Amino acid sequence: MEKLKVAVLGLGTVGSGVPLILKEHQEKISLVTGVEIVVEQALVRDEAEKVDLAKHYDIQLTTDYQEILSNPEIQVVVELIGQIEPAKTYIIQALESGKHVVTANKDLLALHGKELVETANKHQRDLYYEAAVAGGIPILRTIANSLAADNITCVRGILNGTTNYMLTKMANEGWSYEQALDEAQALGFAESDPTNDVDGIDAAYKVAILTQFAFGMSIDLADIDKKGIRGMSSDDIQMAQQLGYIVKLLGSSKKTNGSVSAEVGPVLVPADHPLASVQNEMNAVYVQSSGVRESMYYGPGAGAKPTATSVVSDIITVAKNIRLGISGHMFNSYASETVLTKDEDIESK
Ligand code: HSE
Repeated sequence: MEKLKVAVLGLGTVGSGVPLILKEHQEKISLVTGVEIVVEQALVRDEAEKVDLAKHYDIQLTTDYQEILSNPEIQVVVELIGQIEPAKTYIIQALESGKHVVTANKDLLALHGKELVETANKHQRDLYYEAAVAGGIPILRTIANSLAADNITCVRGILNGTTNYMLTKMANEGWSYEQALDEAQALGFAESDPTNDVDGIDAAYKVAILTQFAFGMSIDLADIDKKGIRGMSSDDIQMAQQLGYIVKLLGSSKKTNGSVSAEVGPVLVPADHPLASVQNEMNAVYVQSSGVRESMYYGPGAGAKPTATSVVSDIITVAKNIRLGISGHMFNSYASETVLTKDEDIESK
């Protein structure tokens, strides 16, 4: 069977799961795609990591990205380094070299999505990033495909697993803020710098990407009102619970009279609302639209296996696109770009 050779940049929490999942589901993936997808190369941090990882992986490990870029057999680059640089340069170089790209990098997509998608379009390459929003929930595909014939008015959700885990433990177990954060970090849910989690920045990145998909508009990060959960006490959270409310960090983006506004902040959610029952590191995205009216998508928002599974689903999509000869056909809406700042009237544009 023909092989589709892939390079993974970063064998960390998520990256290390990708070759394992591809191997575990190899037979099914080959049936669906018609090719055998193999991780041929991986970019590692340094020589010490290379020596260490060489014991566990049957993959060519390198510390030099040029080795991957110049390898004509690599058709797909999977970027799992995170943050902005060097990830951004690596992705652009991969697209310019004719390689397709899969990434889980929400920071990068939220801040530089337009430039990356334009680069992909220019070189007619695929760029997929389902894992960037809500980990294991296939929400971007759902909005782009299943809700394509609908008119979304509001997307609201629990988009950060770390803070939802913390709020759940503080409410149910009476844990302190510090104890809950330590545990979320130990479980691998938090960012390397958890400031982005607790201050609502990580959720804001995801809101920006969701806004793009739901409304076909870019929203500047500075135009998303952001509040986090820093300094909250379990006493306050438990008191709210006694009054019939669950404290959740919600991100939302809504369209009213042609204007879009987006925000992230702690909200008192009535205990009987579907979002109130979403616990621990689970995420949920609640969509209001004129056709389907109300729908909610639920699943793990953080963690190695759910996120890596989502990354592999993007690699499978790229493999199918290559086979069908439709690579470069984006499933998002940056092409019909409307740059929007908060409260700006989109219909006047
Ligand atoms: N730190 C993120 C979270 C990881 O807790 O949701 C997934 O994006």
